[in-house]
Amino acid sequence: MTKTLRRALLGAVFVTASGAALCGGTTWAATIKVGVIAPFSGPFATAGQTFKQGIEIYQAQHGKTVGGDTIEFVYKDLDQANPAQSKALAQELIVKEKVGYLAGFFFTPDALAVAPLIDEANIPCVIFNAATSAITEKSPRYVRTSFTLWQNTVPLAEHMAKQGIKKVVTAVSDYGPGIDGETAFKQTFEKAGGQVVDSIRMPLKSTDFAPFMQRIKDSGAEAIYAFLPAGPTTLGFAKAFNDTGLKAAGIKFFGPGDITQEPDLPALGDAAVGITTTFNYSQAHDSEMNRQLLAKAKELFGSSDLVTFSTVGAYDGTHVIYKMVEATGGKPDGLKAVEAVKGMAWDSPRGPLKIDPNSRHVTQTIYLRVTERKDGKLQNTEIASFPDQPDYGYKGGK
Ligand code: PHB
Repeated sequence: MTKTLRRALLGAVFVTASGAALCGGTTWAATIKVGVIAPFSGPFATAGQTFKQGIEIYQAQHGKTVGGDTIEFVYKDLDQANPAQSKALAQELIVKEKVGYLAGFFFTPDALAVAPLIDEANIPCVIFNAATSAITEKSPRYVRTSFTLWQNTVPLAEHMAKQGIKKVVTAVSDYGPGIDGETAFKQTFEKAGGQVVDSIRMPLKSTDFAPFMQRIKDSGAEAIYAFLPAGPTTLGFAKAFNDTGLKAAGIKFFGPGDITQEPDLPALGDAAVGITTTFNYSQAHDSEMNRQLLAKAKELFGSSDLVTFSTVGAYDGTHVIYKMVEATGGKPDGLKAVEAVKGMAWDSPRGPLKIDPNSRHVTQTIYLRVTERKDGKLQNTEIASFPDQPDYGYKGGK
């Protein structure tokens, strides 16, 4: 880090601190800014939109103030995985916007890129999605309210082995979360007596999946485990699986629930029917809190059709930020804020959550789901649950 940036960051923290400081024995209300970095344009724009909706639903239900301080969200668009740009946007948020918190982050490389900045400025970073286990090992100021690939994949691989499936091919996007999914699957499935007959890694930017479908066919596997980041990627892959005849050939399709996220189900159509996934949230989850979340989405946005895992990642992340502000009395102290939420447990629209004090990642119920049509509409129906799943991939760190 350059001296200039260091001075600017220290200045930023000082200014934020003065906004909430004691003055003549009294405090005055401050505005605490939260900088949210996410895709709001381009092919993954829906992800940013779901973050924003999750934040707005939470604020509509719980208000915009904590202990007299107003919580204001400032959005920065990062249209694709681009760590250099992520770092530049985080600097701008810290130095110019004087945010006290960073949040959002759809893609792993973008979340990883801000580790030195949040440490230098002592700012907590609440990750709403990015799901590679190693992220929270890189700074003690990361807290994550989404899921990890390890967390979803271990129960899925065990379930598949119990179903008597013997030969599986893995197909993943070739970057952090994909490698985690591939490793978690192979390790768990082979321990349970299964065999991974081929491991396919696809470039993150792939749009033509036909060659990979041929390789899946040639592998002789009876089932596939697939992970790609939710959006046009998963949509293209799942459609190709159908269109190239792999579904008709009887190859069973499994993966973490990114592959059947709710906003993509109408476009996937019947290609989605029968895909079996594990995940932390389904729009079809049967709970009062989830019904309230969906009702509020409908009231605010005219529809609840976009509500998905990244909505609740942001909704619960906002809850964590509110608790951090409350615990620090609105004063800027990143480490104290993180310390205050370690071990915190609460009920979410997805089920019970707890922040593991070591990994700073949420321990949660992972659900086994199958995609089906109900009353004409595609949904992820929960058919079994695995409570208290930790991040199996956390190896310890800072
Ligand atoms: C990630 O880059 O960590 C990521 C992105 C999209 C997902 C899951 C993980 O659906």
